[in-house]
Amino acid sequence: MRRRRLKDGVERLLAHRDWLVEAPEQLSGQWDKLTGGKRIHLEIGMGKGQFITTLAEENPDVFYLGLEIKEEVLLRGVEKAIEKELDNVRFLWKNAEHLDQYFAKEEVERIYLNFSDPWPKSRTAKRRLTHQRFLNKYRKILVKEGEIHVKTDNEKLFEFSLNALSDEGYRLKNITFDYHNSGLSVPATTEYEDKFSRSGLRIYRLEAIKRD
Ligand SMILES: C[S@@+](CC[C@H](N)C(=O)[O-])C[C@H]1O[C@@H](n2cnc3c(N)ncnc32)[C@H](O)[C@@H]1O
Repeated sequence: MRRRRLKDGVERLLAHRDWLVEAPEQLSGQWDKLTGGKRIHLEIGMGKGQFITTLAEENPDVFYLGLEIKEEVLLRGVEKAIEKELDNVRFLWKNAEHLDQYFAKEEVERIYLNFSDPWPKSRTAKRRLTHQRFLNKYRKILVKEGEIHVKTDNEKLFEFSLNALSDEGYRLKNITFDYHNSGLSVPATTEYEDKFSRSGLRIYRLEAIKRD
């Protein structure tokens, strides 16, 4: 699908630069300066921000970071945070490829991967956010027993993620092939999740716990 860019997206995003962490590498090892010592939960590929801003509103004791590469969707997330007057969320307009430059060892308590791009062709498998390449980066920045929560509508990506996480030694729990009918709590949904579940698609979900 062609990407619809907002003509003045960058300009509008930078008008809210107080909400952005523009040089996260400078906070590596000292995120406390920003979070005041709160636990960090990071959503990678946060899109338009419904999920992260809902959680931030409900959990003031957690500091939420949303990382997103596309300015036009990130802008929507920033606007939601402004509207809700949140003080426990900030945004990184960055590529997850460089995550290990932004955080030192054991700085993040939880990572959310919601409806990540599936990259179905095997030649692009390395770009999947649950590829071993990324799992190694997550392992470094996650605290002991830190968690990765994955939601997707894509069965193949879910299978791939289960295998990759298991191969990398994560302990898996709360695996469901139909999250919305599983009896598990749904504290917040994403824009993609709402769209897919409205059209009758099942949502797959898992939690992976880092093991030493
Ligand atoms: C399919 S969308 C899902 C958006 C949102 N999580 C949701 O569920 O509504 C995937 C998002 O991940 C972002 N993304 C993909 N790869 C990324 C990367 N390497 N770094 C940062 N963001 C990425 C894309 O720009 C896109 O907004």
